Amino acid sequence: MMRNIAVVGTGYVGLVTGVCLSDIGHHVTCIDIDEQKIQLLKQGKSPIYEPGLEELMLKNINNGRLTFTTDHQTGFHQKEVIYIAVGTPQKKDGSADLSYVHQVARDIARNIKQDVIVVTKSTVPVGTNDEIRQVIKENLVSDVQVDVVSNPEFLREGSAVQDTFHGDRIVIGADNEKAATMIEEINKPFGIPVVKTDIRSAEMIKYASNAFLATKISFINEISNICEKLGANIEDVAYGMGLDHRIGNQFLRAGIGYGGSCFPKDTKALVQMAGNVDHKFELLESVIRVNNVQQAKLVEKAKGFFGSLEGKTVAILGLAFKPNTDDMREAASVVIANMLIQEGARIKGYDPIALENAKRILGDSIEYSDNIEDVLADADIAFISTEWKEIVEFELHLYSKYMKTPIVFDGRNCYALEEVEKHDLEYHSIGRPSVYRSKAKV
Ligand code: UDX
Repeated sequence: MMRNIAVVGTGYVGLVTGVCLSDIGHHVTCIDIDEQKIQLLKQGKSPIYEPGLEELMLKNINNGRLTFTTDHQTGFHQKEVIYIAVGTPQKKDGSADLSYVHQVARDIARNIKQDVIVVTKSTVPVGTNDEIRQVIKENLVSDVQVDVVSNPEFLREGSAVQDTFHGDRIVIGADNEKAATMIEEINKPFGIPVVKTDIRSAEMIKYASNAFLATKISFINEISNICEKLGANIEDVAYGMGLDHRIGNQFLRAGIGYGGSCFPKDTKALVQMAGNVDHKFELLESVIRVNNVQQAKLVEKAKGFFGSLEGKTVAILGLAFKPNTDDMREAASVVIANMLIQEGARIKGYDPIALENAKRILGDSIEYSDNIEDVLADADIAFISTEWKEIVEFELHLYSKYMKTPIVFDGRNCYALEEVEKHDLEYHSIGRPSVYRSKAKV
């Protein structure tokens, strides 16, 4: 059954949620306080790079099911369900900043004139939905019924639309069956299994899932560090482990750590949340520490070989925190670039789409190009920090053609060692034996 829905916040989560809900037949109004953004969205233009999103936006704007506004009163008019999808940035102490969420709760209370279900999509600490309910109750101006539901998202950047339509589960945390059933009905066209829980468990599922995935990554990275010292190959080890269904073969790619807008922030927030109830989450603290060390790994390795990197020309291949996104948040490339700046190296960065965002973070302390050859030209060392398709498919003989010395530190294990061995290349990767240039070719 078609429902009237408002989504507050047109960031990554809110926009994808709003667009996809309109695509399965609901009438959706997306609300944001950013006037410029709303103007852009009305024209069917997405402020974020997300495959498939603009097409769905245009389709549903044109069929009249998707609208955008900056005005809460208009946006909430006759809506049965309001999704909260605003940001919960990290505060200095690692905890989540809930001021935007609380503001939305006040906006809802002051503007609604009908019964609504408020659904929290934003990642919020356990107990926040109770707070939201309280804030709404305190500020309510009409005599209406408001239910609160936790419905966390599990979207990956770069495949968020795909994940919305083909996710593994939809989690609905509610304290009454009527509200839970309504949200279940809304999501029915997605055809994804639904897990119904109480509110706090739903909130926890999100943090526990992200913390577990981050743990898998730090675990395999630690194994890779030991493999390097003992002469084993992490690719074979991860493959052999992953065949066990209890372990599973995903999130066992060793590399230079996890980045992005979720894992770093959510792991720290969960440690903080546990601390608030006098529980020291030692395992997760280690996961975070291991990741910090791992992000610095390539530069540390290079320093081990060269001593100082002062005056070296260094190419960084891939700046986004992972492929298929222009997101630079918590990217390993930033850690690498900052360490190289300290070292006094000349740095050239390549990325196919994240250059604008990279410039915002790294400024003119590095040179930029969206052409791999340009960045490799005359370089002494290349660091691979993102496994972009363009880098994975880059022909290996070109490293020695363009670089001053073809020495590559690959933080994402982009190439098969057998292939590297056929070329004039010194190659250091993660958890695998190094390949040195054969004397014959030098
Ligand atoms: C993640 C979760 O997957 C998603 O469910 C949640 O809602 C938000 O956080 P995202 O940050 O978009 O999504 O990216 P993801 O593809 O999960 O990768 C996260 C980071 O882990 C990347 O930096 C990636 O390079 C790294 N990673 C992932 C590894 O190092 N090894 C792996 O095996 C998998």
